[in-house]
Amino acid sequence: MMQSSTSLEQSLFDSSEEFALQLRQVTKSYDGTPPVHALSDVTISVKHGEFVGIVGASGSGKSTLLHVIGTLARPTSGSVFINGMNTDGMSDGALSGLRSRDVGFVFQEFFLISGLSAVQNVANGLLYSGVSEAERLRRSEIMLDKVGLAHRLTHMPNEMSGGEQQRVAVARALVHEPSFVLADEPTGNLDSRSTESLMELFYSLNREGTTIIIITHDREVAERFPRQVLLKDGKIETDSALS
Ligand SMILES: Nc1ncnc2c1ncn2[C@@H]1O[C@H](COP(=O)(O)OP(=O)(O)O)[C@@H](O)[C@H]1O
Ligand SMILES: [Mg+2]
Repeated sequence: MMQSSTSLEQSLFDSSEEFALQLRQVTKSYDGTPPVHALSDVTISVKHGEFVGIVGASGSGKSTLLHVIGTLARPTSGSVFINGMNTDGMSDGALSGLRSRDVGFVFQEFFLISGLSAVQNVANGLLYSGVSEAERLRRSEIMLDKVGLAHRLTHMPNEMSGGEQQRVAVARALVHEPSFVLADEPTGNLDSRSTESLMELFYSLNREGTTIIIITHDREVAERFPRQVLLKDGKIETDSALS
């Protein structure tokens, strides 16, 4: 038993370039009396091109895991590899550079800037890419077209539906061509029709090669993920890729 789990782990870490993301025996504790062990021994590998849903009840450690995967928080122990790169010893500055290149965030609350149009919001995703403003706007228009919003380029956030705002947020997350998109309850503020249509968008982006990791407590949304990882009490209870 011991042997087979060791060789499985070995094979998971053999060729790191294959992976968009790897967590290796990650734990995360919050100080306090008593301390909270929000993540224990979390090991997971996500290949380029995968579509993974991480599902768990409230308090299971989803937000903590999102922060660790997105390098917004450092693990208490264990290692996080993004695109084959070990983030352990990186400075805060290096981590923020890595984030702006390799991770595309999508949040439940959209977090669009209210004073900027759709295309300007998307172009913000390229602020640290070093390309000219004209090129940022050009790429943003292409990306908005891709998410089905070619007719909403100059709309302000308050002139769009929730579903449209979330599409803008997806375009912003994708425009710098990250290694993966990391979405936190992306359908949490959407009605069922917009939920359906956003999930269709994620599926079509994934078919074109985008690596997608969605974190959700919504089992109905989760049931259709090609790969499902179930988080319980800070541990991975099941991972459909390993069964
Ligand atoms: N900053 C924090 N300080 C102390 N405990 C925390 C903190 N953030 C989360 N926790 C605790 O860690 C556990 C996991 O929380 P969280 O990652 O937010 O789970 P979820 O997003 O699945 O609801 C919970 O028991 C929560 O109370
Ligand atoms: Mg949470």
